[in-house]
Amino acid sequence: MYTRRTFLTSTALAAATTFIVGCSRSSNDADGGGTAAAAASSTSARAIGKRRVGRSDISISPLVLGGNVFGWTADRERSFEILDRFVEAGFETIDTADVYSGWIPGNRGGESETILGEWMASRRNRDSIVLITKLGGEMDGHKGLSAANVQRAAEASLKRLQTDYIDIYFSHFPDDDTPHEETLAAYQKLIDAGKVRIIGASNFDANQVRAALDASAANGLPRYEILQPRYNLYDRDGFDGPLRDLALAEELGVITYSSLASGFLTGKYRSEADLDQSPRGRGVARYLDERGMRILSALDEVAARHGAEPADVALAWVIVREGVTAPIASARNVEQLDTLVRAPTLASALTAEDIQLLDQASAA
Ligand SMILES: NC(=O)c1ccc[n+]([C@@H]2O[C@H](COP(=O)([O-])OP(=O)(O)OC[C@H]3O[C@@H](n4cnc5c(N)ncnc54)[C@H](OP(=O)(O)O)[C@@H]3O)[C@@H](O)[C@H]2O)c1
Repeated sequence: MYTRRTFLTSTALAAATTFIVGCSRSSNDADGGGTAAAAASSTSARAIGKRRVGRSDISISPLVLGGNVFGWTADRERSFEILDRFVEAGFETIDTADVYSGWIPGNRGGESETILGEWMASRRNRDSIVLITKLGGEMDGHKGLSAANVQRAAEASLKRLQTDYIDIYFSHFPDDDTPHEETLAAYQKLIDAGKVRIIGASNFDANQVRAALDASAANGLPRYEILQPRYNLYDRDGFDGPLRDLALAEELGVITYSSLASGFLTGKYRSEADLDQSPRGRGVARYLDERGMRILSALDEVAARHGAEPADVALAWVIVREGVTAPIASARNVEQLDTLVRAPTLASALTAEDIQLLDQASAA
């Protein structure tokens, strides 16, 4: 069970042992530090300022590790290597979902949470991780956000994750068949029991978030404190506009998914012939148009200016977007991860000219 004392103790320890320079462009950076391992092992960690999640007492570094590769393109051993490297670099926040990675023949969902749970147990580091998972996708024949499913899914995730609390629990998708009040009351029970710290909404549009926030306020129920939309240099519609306006007005945290457009923004796909490089390649085909190529050219140019990689630049662009708390990105090996962890440092070095070039290239 999560207790406030446990969290403050680990945070205070990290703050005392880590020298942190805040990211100057962030309007919502919070005081705090990375893990003690960060101080020892990574210069990049020094440039990372943590950002507060909404109005909660949780602060996270501006890069979240995506967990849908665990049990998919990264087996257990490779996943452990990626996770070890991520925390060694000074980061702490990991995103998964109960359904990951059930789309692989032979898998049934829960594989990512299981690997993550085994890793935290073997490293005995649960209290230094900010753990994010989600429910609502189809799992074991159940789906949606009914009270019964919230309860069932939470217990199953806690078991797989080998923990007794989830830091940030997301509704993975909106559920039009369940009133917000029912879902939020179910979350209230989990929060009261110390099993969940805060809740979030993924794949909700602005109207759906507004309705949920209203239901929270009208009934004295916990509110969604954080959003998780798809957002990257190519896919901007899901956040730019009403959702960002609402997030800013309501002081909601925002972590973006597919921040690398499933790998396209790393620059490794330039033609149809490149798509076979990864099992994800076919999903990237839709980006191979004139606008996609314009974005890659801009990424190449900005990367060359900074001696960086297109992937870092793509993530740095998200990090400095107004209203964003952190991008989520996944890596299937440590070599990929070593590139991604440089993004927060690069974000503080991007110039107005760099950002303008990227903005123009990605304009519709
Ligand atoms: N809430 C939701 O509905 C939702 C939906 C999707 C994802 N998510 C979350 O967001 C996370 C990330 O999103 P995403 O899965 O769409 O992926 P992404 O972060 O946009 O792209 C990551 C992929 O790009 C490739 N890559 C990463 N770094 C690279 C490098 N340096 N060089 C070359 N290739 C590199 C890797 O795939 P390959 O090596 O296989 O090419 C990696 O798995 C997920 O893990 C998940 O936690 C949430």
